[in-house]
Amino acid sequence: MPSQRPLKFAPSILAADFLVLGEQLAACEEGGAERFHVDVMDGLFVPNLSLGIPIVEAVRRATKLPVEVHLMIDRPERYVDEFSAAGSDRIIVHQEATAHLHRVVHKVKDDLGRKVSVALNPSTPDAAILDELLVELDSVLVMTVNPGFGGQSFIESMLPKIRRLRARLDASHPAGEIEVDGGVDERTAPLCVEAGADALVAGTSVFRAPGGPAAGLRRLMSCCGGLAARV
Ligand code: DX5
Ligand code: ZN
Repeated sequence: MPSQRPLKFAPSILAADFLVLGEQLAACEEGGAERFHVDVMDGLFVPNLSLGIPIVEAVRRATKLPVEVHLMIDRPERYVDEFSAAGSDRIIVHQEATAHLHRVVHKVKDDLGRKVSVALNPSTPDAAILDELLVELDSVLVMTVNPGFGGQSFIESMLPKIRRLRARLDASHPAGEIEVDGGVDERTAPLCVEAGADALVAGTSVFRAPGGPAAGLRRLMSCCGGLAARV
């Protein structure tokens, strides 16, 4: 019998109420979050500024769950040491942000001992990740919005890219995870899971949910309830 992998939820704290961040993180834990997602923007790679190292340190102190940082910054190799030292368990770098993807992937994996993920913008084909590099990644982050802002609409034409990546991983690296980021809500989460997603990032649909983050997470989980993450 093929085994079913549990679907993982990574609340994106970009949409949280920072005045009460600790309470919001606790509510996410209660709601079943598997890890936290911290969006780092530099105003250059993406047209917005957001969170940085002090927030990663604060989240690290506030939770025992893994913390992942999504580096939407130009040449992320300049800052992976600092984000690792701040307590990031998984470091996500964009394929488009560096000319030296192989080098930064290996720096994160081998030198820093952290999980490593490569993010792909909507206009970037999955083939931009070489087969020989794909097998070395812990995960791939498929962007289903153009990075830079929370609260955008899910780009449905990304679903075939998720399917293609899942097929490539199944053929060569089944333990590799596909995470989806952007516009994930009760309508779109099941589409992602059906296409092969293992982990879902969600900001607005968790932190702005009626009843709060725990309720939002439970609603997301229940709308994916009938779907195994992968079989
Ligand atoms: C977008 C970020 C996302 C964002 C998701 O650039 O990478 O992680 O916070 O927010 P929602 O779930 O509101 O689309
Ligand atoms: Zn993100």
